[in-house]
Amino acid sequence: MICVPIIGPDMKQALEDISFVNGEADLLELRLDLIKNFDLKQLVESTGKDVIVTVRSNREGGQWDGDVASAIKELRSALNLGVRFIDVEWHLASELTKEELGQAIISRHFFDEFPSNLKSILDELNEIPGAVTKIAMKIDQLEQNAEIFQLLRDRRKDTILIGMGELGRISRIAARAMGGFLTFAALSSGKESAPGQVTLAELKNKYYTKNNNQETKLYGVIGNPIGHSMSPDIHNAGFNSIGFNALYLPLKVERVESFMSELAPYFDGFSVTIPHKEIFFTIADKVEEVVNKIGALNTLTKLSDGRWEGKNTDISAAIDSVIEKLDDKSLKDKRVLVIGAGGAARAIVIGAKYKGANVTIANRTVSKGQKIANELEVNFISLEKIQALASLDYNVIMNTTSVGMSPEVDVSPLPKTTFKEEQVVFDAIYNPDKTKLILKAEEDGAKIITGREMFVKQGALQFEHWTKKTCPLTLFREILNKKLG
Ligand code: ATR
Repeated sequence: MICVPIIGPDMKQALEDISFVNGEADLLELRLDLIKNFDLKQLVESTGKDVIVTVRSNREGGQWDGDVASAIKELRSALNLGVRFIDVEWHLASELTKEELGQAIISRHFFDEFPSNLKSILDELNEIPGAVTKIAMKIDQLEQNAEIFQLLRDRRKDTILIGMGELGRISRIAARAMGGFLTFAALSSGKESAPGQVTLAELKNKYYTKNNNQETKLYGVIGNPIGHSMSPDIHNAGFNSIGFNALYLPLKVERVESFMSELAPYFDGFSVTIPHKEIFFTIADKVEEVVNKIGALNTLTKLSDGRWEGKNTDISAAIDSVIEKLDDKSLKDKRVLVIGAGGAARAIVIGAKYKGANVTIANRTVSKGQKIANELEVNFISLEKIQALASLDYNVIMNTTSVGMSPEVDVSPLPKTTFKEEQVVFDAIYNPDKTKLILKAEEDGAKIITGREMFVKQGALQFEHWTKKTCPLTLFREILNKKLG
């Protein structure tokens, strides 16, 4: 269930929020401590009774400045008005009758730390004969979510375990998948009643948690930072559109080893992004030959024996789309120019060489370009020399530098080149959709491959590998275009 807290600050706003959200959420929580001069009867009547009434004390992070007796009085009035649940802080439970406890969520909060003895605290709260047990706690290491996941799976009664703060967001999003009784979602951004709360719109329209259940498989994208990753948008929408019972989470991973030993076992697969593509290559138990040569991966999939298989769909996507555009559908002996000498160039050079291409690296800094060309046993030319030529004698031209990336969209790594119709021109940049280089190639009649199309393809290959179903490519494209403009 999704529960949206109504947090005031006054009756007018509370009633407005209730009428806005009613029907969208499974439950509403009336935070009486946050609504000034509340009229409980009017609030309850406007909601339609699927309500939790909460009077949170200062001690547990709320703003109720009345005494215990006044809080209990309000909770009793709420029960008399027919509400479904009251939220009772654990230290007040003894004030209620057994019958009243039968409708109570027994709650405890840890705002400053993750309790080291979470299991025994949960056991203790479970002894109180309430309807539901709830603990909300600050998460300061991503791996602490694993303990929440496990305790939810092992629960003995209806249980709510919530990780607070940015790193606890995954416990809120995955609550339903882990068997949690409910999760709280903010009405909108800025209306959070606790740190790290996700919004109702995110749970519904980005993570599609509505149909999650304990069979739901977990996937995620590992990176640091991870807030701007578009992978959760495309994969969750894709899973939802084909009815694949899975949830895809953003994972800000700092400690790779503890992540793999503690949290990864709850997941079936990962996308891996910057800065972790190399380190996770060393963690994969099994990789394809070309991935071994590259030394970096972007996909991990759990095998039936629990080991991790690594793939690099960035490279398969880049190389496959180039091959698709070539008349004879082969890179064998084709002349390929790769502009740039960073990590992306390195992977593309290895991928193209693996398919039999004759590769040349062009780079601004000669020493760096020459060094990697020597190491990979390919040709080298300075970018300056290439830029002086009006036409290029290559079948495929691939830009891996950031030249032309938003906001500096008015530059091209090949400002003087005229392209030929039979040439394939590729740009790894995905914002803007069409860079200056791509626009010129398109104008000259060459075949083009955009970075955005590459992003779609690398995601699609992961999607098909995990779901064994055809990827909804149009949906992926629409989502990216909507997000990136
Ligand atoms: P990545 O890992 O994404 O490939 P990188 O390691 O930072 O990124 O590599 C960036 C590449 O883009 C480098 O080859 C860089 O050239 P230098 O080796 O000369 O630095 C190239 N690059 C970045 N900005 C550039 C510019 N304005 N003109 C030409 N090349 C540029």
